Amino acid sequence: MGFARGTCSQRSQSFFQIAAPGGIAEDEAMNTNGSDQEKSTNVPGTIPTVSFEHQRAAAAERTKSFPYKFPRDRRQLGGKFSVAENTRRLLRFFYFERRLMQALGAWTLSIPEFEVKLETGRHIFYHGDAARLFRERLTEQEMRPKAIDAFRDPEIDRFIEELLSANSACELLVGIHQVIGRALATAYRHHIDDTDPITDVPTIRCMRRILTDYEPMLEWAEGGIAAYVDGGVSEAELGAWRWHLQRLLASIGGVTGSDERAQPPSPLRSEIKPFVRGTVPLRDVRFDTFKNTGDYDAADVKERFPKDSYENLRLRFIRTQRDEVDAIEAFGTFIWDIRFKDFDSEYNLARITWDETRHTEIGHRALQACGYDPFELRNRLTGSTCRGPMEPAFAMAEINLFGEVGVLKTINSLIDAAADRNDALLYHVADFIRADERTHVRKGQGIISVMTDLEAKALELRTRELFTECLVSLGAFKRDMDVFTVSREDLEHLVGE
Ligand SMILES: [Fe+2]
Ligand SMILES: [Fe+2]
Repeated sequence: MGFARGTCSQRSQSFFQIAAPGGIAEDEAMNTNGSDQEKSTNVPGTIPTVSFEHQRAAAAERTKSFPYKFPRDRRQLGGKFSVAENTRRLLRFFYFERRLMQALGAWTLSIPEFEVKLETGRHIFYHGDAARLFRERLTEQEMRPKAIDAFRDPEIDRFIEELLSANSACELLVGIHQVIGRALATAYRHHIDDTDPITDVPTIRCMRRILTDYEPMLEWAEGGIAAYVDGGVSEAELGAWRWHLQRLLASIGGVTGSDERAQPPSPLRSEIKPFVRGTVPLRDVRFDTFKNTGDYDAADVKERFPKDSYENLRLRFIRTQRDEVDAIEAFGTFIWDIRFKDFDSEYNLARITWDETRHTEIGHRALQACGYDPFELRNRLTGSTCRGPMEPAFAMAEINLFGEVGVLKTINSLIDAAADRNDALLYHVADFIRADERTHVRKGQGIISVMTDLEAKALELRTRELFTECLVSLGAFKRDMDVFTVSREDLEHLVGE
């Protein structure tokens, strides 16, 4: 460093001397230097300030005549991190965020409580988007995307595996939000304070944007965990789990890896029994569920409206949106199942998961706007029950190529019918959902190509075969022929979105 500075000083000095403007002789320039320079030249090894008095005086004159008093920028140069240290830290943050997106995806099927499943769908995207922002910043800090995506940290993995070994959705919230979420938010705030506010301001902006999502997320989690405790979950057990995970995090030097390391706790749940994601979609006690058919009228046994009436199609559309709580499960699970295959696909899945969370919320509220208690309407579990244990490529093909494509086939005529009847509620919600589903169909193609090498035809056929098998096992179809595969139309109607 000292050598580099010396070199720089020699260079800048000779630059000023050679480039002395206006024909001022070299020795004259040296003689007219201010006293600052004389002082600094007395200290060996420092770089002299080579200022020409007439230029400095002229600058002061010009400044005097400048009439505008703009707000003073109080930021100062300096910070704790070099680019290399910044990169080391940001890469860990990126990795934590990517792993948290995947980890929450792994739990989507296994969270029973409706509100928690919805929030988790949103949080998956918050973590995915934080990872994207760090990834982008890292590419500006001398890292290639390939190297960023290939980064792994076995210690962080061990922590994530342990956090995933939660015994309940409430324990999951404790680990995700109260332990690692809070630690990351603190680390980001410290990084904002410690890094150079001028040279590294893009990192600061990136972290501020991430904290915009973190603040309401962590706040919600506090309320969510308190609701579990008020409802009878043991606060002491949660406290023990929190302490256990905090010690594990401390044993790897905290989120930055540079804190003093503590002894890891023992034993680890994940060492006794490695984490395996759930395969069964869970619902809380407020729901009355069915999976023996995909048809709402069949599930209710009784028709509310005539089969092909507008009223029936309208209610079916709104119920389907509420029941897209299963699409949170599908897309969330895919993130876990294809983890580390392709960052952009993980990110797109995370965004779709958030969209499906919104569709569920739209459905829930639209049912209320129609005068229903959303929980009085039975919840369809048929699709999620089939997709849960399935290989991701086929589950994705079903929900994307049949479900979402199927929605687009019928939604235009539904929106037209809503407009004709001046049905503002349906028109409003279906308008936004159409835009979302179009986006999903488009993004789905890229995601499927990461999941499988199968040709479109072979993928469709195998998907139909697997769903036939599943639907027959659930009793939605009777197998009355030796060779029988459900049609694309049946799938769109029964298990699609
Ligand atoms: Fe949807
Ligand atoms: Fe969708």
